[in-house]
Amino acid sequence: MLRGLFLTTLLVAGVAFVAAAGDSGSANAESGRQLYAENCAACHGRYGEGDGPVSGALMVTPPDLTQLAARNSGKFPGAVVADYIDGRKTVAAHGTRSMPVWGMEFWLQAGADKAAEAKIKKKIDALVGYIAGIQD
Ligand code: HEC
Repeated sequence: MLRGLFLTTLLVAGVAFVAAAGDSGSANAESGRQLYAENCAACHGRYGEGDGPVSGALMVTPPDLTQLAARNSGKFPGAVVADYIDGRKTVAAHGTRSMPVWGMEFWLQAGADKAAEAKIKKKIDALVGYIAGIQD
């Protein structure tokens, strides 16, 4: 319940943040860029550099997402990033984390049924594509 409230607040903050930047309405609603702006920028920053408006309030500083390839010998670790965003496997194996478990959030948003699983994959793939495109 509290967690849901926290997420809602974050999402609202994210949307307000994007609207303020004058970015809304340009891209297709399901594009990676739009999904990133709505769900991720509040923490990871508008340009992915880990400096979003909410980042200071977190126990763990959000990592700079433009450095994922550089930190992996120049190769963007797409599959690892996809699993990380989804989070359902990681959390099962390692317990809690600061970042929301997007696999669960997107699943709930998509209606929490069998068809929802395919929609999650599309969203996560779009996000991974977007993040791949902002590597330094
Ligand atoms: C509530 C703040 C918050 C939001 C919102 C958030 N993240 Fe994160 N993210 C974090 C934190 C903090 C970490 C560091 C690991 C941890 O503690 O969970 C992280 C880690 C990551 C990592 C792992 C990076 C690495 O160093 O390997 C990826 C990839 C990532 N986030 C992508 C995303 C994407 C994509 C979204 C939007 C769907 C998102 N994050 C939304 C806080 C957030």
